Amino acid sequence: MERTYIMVKPDGVERGLVGEIIKRFEQRGFQLLALQLLTPTKELLEQHYGDLAGKAFFPGLIKYMLSGPVVGMVWAGKQVVKTGRVMLGATNPLDSAPGTIRGDFCIDVGKNLCHGSDSVENAEKEIALWFPNGVASYTRHIESLIYE
Ligand code: PPS
Repeated sequence: MERTYIMVKPDGVERGLVGEIIKRFEQRGFQLLALQLLTPTKELLEQHYGDLAGKAFFPGLIKYMLSGPVVGMVWAGKQVVKTGRVMLGATNPLDSAPGTIRGDFCIDVGKNLCHGSDSVENAEKEIALWFPNGVASYTRHIESLIYE
């Protein structure tokens, strides 16, 4: 089953939106495989956002992500990478549709609450980066209620 890395950023943790974000993924039918609250190191963030190192907003992004703990999660399910991104909404919250997480809870791109992997390949890289000790899998007994 496909997996994705979803992260509640420091503003989302501080604003008490962790439960709301988990609730949406649970209600949709996705399976929670891993969950951790941690204050990331600069090195970890620079690896995670390595592709963006040349962008003007990069220093601000790292500072924002260092401002408090984040909640990282691994979710599994059919097309969870793509659907997870739809559920988060557009990167710039002003372009996010109402009903999406960003569309319902934030305004500025520099405080956009959450991160979701943008491809299956990057999801696996991010899961390995943030959960270096591995992620367990387990069988749910409700799959037939979710998938046809
Ligand atoms: S880009 O320029 O197309 O590569 O950027 P994009 O794919 O839209 O976004 C990549 C991540 O950078 C974050 N981002 C920003 N952070 C702070 N300030 C500004 N202006 C900004 N622009 C983009 C954006 O939220 C993405 O982070 P994640 O964690 O993946 O959401």
